[in-house]
Order: sequence, then structure tokens, then C-alpha cells
Amino acid sequence: MEQKRIKIKDLLLSKEFGSEVNVKGWVRTKRGNKQINFVALNDGSTIQNLQIVVDVPNFNEDLLKKITTGAAISIDGEIMESQGSGQSVELKATHIDVLGVADPDKYPLQPKKHSLEFLREKAHLRFRTNTFSAVFRIRHAMAYAVHEFFNKKGFYYMHTPLITGSDAEGAGEMFRVSTLDPKNPPLNEDGSINYKEDFFGKETNLTVSGQLEGELGAMALGEIYTFGPTFRAENSNTTRHLAEFWMIEPEMAFYDITDNMDLAEEFLKYMIKYALDNCMDDLKFLSQRLQEEEKGKKAEDRSMELIEKLKFVLENDFVRLTYTEAIEILRNSKPNKKKKFQYLINEWGADLQSEHERYLVEKKFEKPVILIDYPKDIKAFYMKQNEDGKTVAAMDILFPGIGEIIGGSQREEDLDKLLTRMKEMNVPADEMDWYLDTRRFGSATHSGFGLGFERMMLFVTGMGNIRDVIPFPRAPKNAEF
Ligand code: 4AD
Ligand code: MG
Repeated sequence: MEQKRIKIKDLLLSKEFGSEVNVKGWVRTKRGNKQINFVALNDGSTIQNLQIVVDVPNFNEDLLKKITTGAAISIDGEIMESQGSGQSVELKATHIDVLGVADPDKYPLQPKKHSLEFLREKAHLRFRTNTFSAVFRIRHAMAYAVHEFFNKKGFYYMHTPLITGSDAEGAGEMFRVSTLDPKNPPLNEDGSINYKEDFFGKETNLTVSGQLEGELGAMALGEIYTFGPTFRAENSNTTRHLAEFWMIEPEMAFYDITDNMDLAEEFLKYMIKYALDNCMDDLKFLSQRLQEEEKGKKAEDRSMELIEKLKFVLENDFVRLTYTEAIEILRNSKPNKKKKFQYLINEWGADLQSEHERYLVEKKFEKPVILIDYPKDIKAFYMKQNEDGKTVAAMDILFPGIGEIIGGSQREEDLDKLLTRMKEMNVPADEMDWYLDTRRFGSATHSGFGLGFERMMLFVTGMGNIRDVIPFPRAPKNAEF
């Protein structure tokens, strides 16, 4: 009789020694001798492997030969108290089926440590490794925590479109969506492409942000958030940028910039606490991995232990300061005076690079920093203009090891001021009546921000490259699988 299947995560907590169960999973390793074999089995439910004890004489030799690294097997067995150290539970096999073989001469993953670069080439198999299964279990937990946080607060989850006709951030780094024949597109008289004949009758792109549509939701439902794929065609081949990433964008009516900062800090801390409360096994594994990786480094170059770092951020208030204060600090900083920064800070108005952000967070304050009141010329058109005429009520949150993790602002609610700014920045107001109506009819103070989900994943897992925290990364010259 086929036994009832139990997941390894649950089995390892079981105390029902002597009872019979079925487990299914993939073989990590097999070792032993002519009398007894030990198979380490993993089914994805936990980072822990289950030890399967196989009395060799009781099983067919050909069957046992097929139990190699990577094979899928099903085992009926008796739950036993483990004699060895480590786990408290093991399974004594009574019946084994090989569900799917993995030819040891061809299976790309060996029971040894592979480099992350190697595994990026084998993205379809890297889920089978400890590191990536840990990362993607945590990714699931973080996504769940996002919804739990906002649901508890009474926010509504809003789906904003992926295909849009507007460039929310005004950065122009968009992927075109078109069904026109690239070899033979319909042309206007002046030779330009006639998008009136395209699928949507106009130029359309993949969205760079759901914010503008989110504002419409907030100005009716009160508090909303989006959580969806976001696309940017910036040619940034860095460890912090993806062409396709996931962004969480809350938008709230009647929130000013301080309310916005308070919410963002509470949100980030909620996610970190959720990881500490629910993902400890995986975090411990990733922490060990990181410590091994850093063994060769000098003491001052080593980062804080992962779990300690997460607790530290949870327990401390974020530093809040203005862009103007930050520029003063940076201008007088050692790396600026000694010309160590690649981009030297000379005057007010300079855009901050990630080297500056990381100096503030990692050297000066050693804590997350919320920077507000940026020069209006380096920020998007929709941000609330401050009374000084020079700055806007923007906020960026900077995290250790990451740099910018959140970007947001209070929004300009005054129609005339917004229109003037759009004109100055060449944002086509005539195509955005639908957006401007929020300012025409019942306008009010409102605010929001965007969290890059993968940047948050980098922070929580301690991984160093953003391509390693998303299942199938999309980056310049890279859309495999
Ligand atoms: O600062 P950004 O561009 O802000 C916006 O898009 C606003 N509309 C958000 C809002 O106010 N609703 O992007 C927000 C965050 C960044 O702080 C960063 O964490 C992430 O999105 N991000 C990226 N993550 C990965 N790859 C990229 N290419 C990213 N670009 C931005
Ligand atoms: Mg930004």
C-alpha cells in the first residue's frame, strides 16, 4: 500500500518514531558501503536534507545504481530517531521508486560548491542548490510579508498596467511595445513611423512605474499599493540593476512627506522582522556562506554578520537628513578631500552617486539614512515643490551595502505649479489629462514611494548580485531561459 506523502520540513519535526510514511524529493548525495547506504534527500520544503538509511542487501542492485545526485526518488520508510549528530529524525527505507534518473555523466551539478557565475548559466537548475533554494524561499516569504503588511493597514492592492503610453519617471529608458513590422513599418509623409497604425493607435511602452495610475487609486480609495513587474531599458550592467524587476509602490491620500517616511521605515522593518521570524534556517545558511566567502578579506573590509545586521537595522531609528546637509557632509569628507570619490562633490545641485550614498550610510552614520528635499532639477516632475523654490519634497532611503533602496516623494497637488513644471521638463501635459484630473477635482496632499523588491532581497539575503535574487534575471544582453 502506498503511504501518505509527507514533506521533509514536517517530517523533521515529527516524533512519531516507528510509523511509516512516504517522502519524495531529489537526491543530493549518496554514500556508504556494501551493507548500508545513506542518501541525503531534499524536497525544497526546507534547507535541511533528510537522511534515508538503505539496507543494501534488501534492495535490487540496479535500482540502487540509479540513485545518483539529481535523481527524483520516492521512498516509503519508517521514521527513526537518528543516532548520529545533526538531525533528530531519519527514514529507514522499506520501498524505493526511482521517478526520474539524472545521468551522472551529464548532470551539470556536482555535489560540491559551484560558483554563482557558473550557476547563472544553469539558471534552470540553480534552484536545486542550497544557496538558491534558500534565496527563493526567502523571496516568497518577503512577497507574502508585503501583502500582509499592507492588508493589515487597510491598503488595497491595485494592479496597474504593464503596457503604458506615458513615461512616469521622465527618464526615457523604456522598452517599446509594438506589433508593426520592423522591416517595413508604415511611414508618415516626413518619413517617421506612423504609430497611428500600431496596435494601440499610439506609441506604447512597458511601464517604468505604476505610480501615476496608483495616484488615481489613492485619490479615491485612500491608500493603495502596487506590486508588479517594472521595466527599465537603462544600459546599466551593475550588481544593482535589472531590466525587469519588481517594485512595490504604495500611494496614500492625506499623507505628507513625514507620514511617508514613517510608513516606509515601518514597512522595511516589518519585512526584516518577518524574515527573522520565519526564515531563520535559510538565513543561517546564507550567513555561513557569506562568512566563508569573506574569510580571505581584511577585518575592516568584512561586513557585519547577516543576522546581526538585520537585527541592527530593526532596532535602530533611521537617520533623517536633508540633501543640503548631506552635501555639506560629503564636501568635507575624507574621500572627497583626498579625491577618492570618482565623482567629486563640489557644489550644491550635484546628483548623488552610489559611492556617496554608501559613504553616508556605511562610514558616516553606519545606519540606514532617509535623505529628503533634493534639488528639483534632479528629480521627477510630479514631486511637491518646496517653498524655497529650489527643492522638492523627495525622499530616498539609503541602505548599507545597497545604496538607494526606496525612492519616493510627496506629490505636487497644485494644478498650476504641476503644469508649469511639466512644461519646464517637456512632459506632454496634453496626453496626461487623465492624470491631471486628480488635481482638477478634489486635489489633496498625497504621497508615495517605490521599493525595489530585488534590492530588498539583496539586503535580506546578503547576496552580492541582483541577478542572484530573481529566478530568471533580465539584464543587458541577457534574456536566457
Ligand atoms: O527611484 P525610482 O525610479 O522611483 C520611482 O519609480 C517612483 N515612481 C516610485 C514612487 O514614488 N512610487 O525607483 C524606485 C526603486 C529604487 O529605489 C530601486 O530600489 C528600484 O526601484 N529600482 C531598481 N531595481 C532594480 N533594477 C533597476 N533598474 C531599478 N531601478 C529602480
Ligand atoms: Mg530613485
